[in-house]
Formats: sequence, C-alpha cells, structure tokens
Amino acid sequence: MNISKIIEPQLQKTKRIIIEEAKDHSIVLFHWKAGQRVPMHAHSGTCIFKVLSGEINETRIANNKIHFNTLLPGFEGSIGDGQCHTMIPVKNSISMHYYSPVPKKLCPSMEHIKLEISTTITKRMLPKN
Ligand SMILES: [Fe+2]
Repeated sequence: MNISKIIEPQLQKTKRIIIEEAKDHSIVLFHWKAGQRVPMHAHSGTCIFKVLSGEINETRIANNKIHFNTLLPGFEGSIGDGQCHTMIPVKNSISMHYYSPVPKKLCPSMEHIKLEISTTITKRMLPKN
C-alpha cells in the first residue's frame, strides 16, 4: 500500500495507521482530522510521540492537575501510567507514536489501518527517551 494514498488532504475521520506491531510495542501514525475530538482516555505503559505537522490541542490530567498544551510540529512528548488526556486537532495533523505495551483498546471514532513499511526511517523520527 502506498502511504500517499493514506495521507490525504480530505479526511473523513481521523486515521490510526499501524506501521509496526510486535509483541511488546507498536509504532503508529495518526492522521488527525481537524476538529475531531478524541474522547478523554487513560494511558497505561509508555507512549512516546512526536508531532510531524499541523496543530493539536491537548488537555491532560496528571498529578491531580489539568494541563492545557498546544502541540506544534516538532513537539516531542510522552504520556504514561496514571495520566489521562484528550486531543483536539486544530488543523489536519500528523503525529507518530511509540506504544509499549501494544494498546488493547482501539478508539471507535477512528479509522484503523495496518500498513507494513520499513521502520528504519520511522524509528529515527521518534524521540529518544
Ligand atoms: Fe492518548
């Protein structure tokens, strides 16, 4: 499958594109549809991510406090055990995420796609934590 057919300007809904899935981790590309809110959800394990394009507003609950973040291209972050957040893309946006372990629940509001490509380039794009 050609990635140019996955990343499209006219999105119907947010796409969650699995680039790699192994026993202990997965690497996922999100193509966020502007204005499509991801419901507040909890994280377990580790999620490391980088925003590649667009703009995403994040509301995060951590340590009993609410944090409002604007995530712009180049932003590198993580979220993990005991933290919850919601994401609202202001523009169509792209971000890359590394999860360990592999998430078991999939958001029903998104389109889920499995794409097999070489991960040599994608692993270099992830922040080193
Ligand atoms: Fe999340």
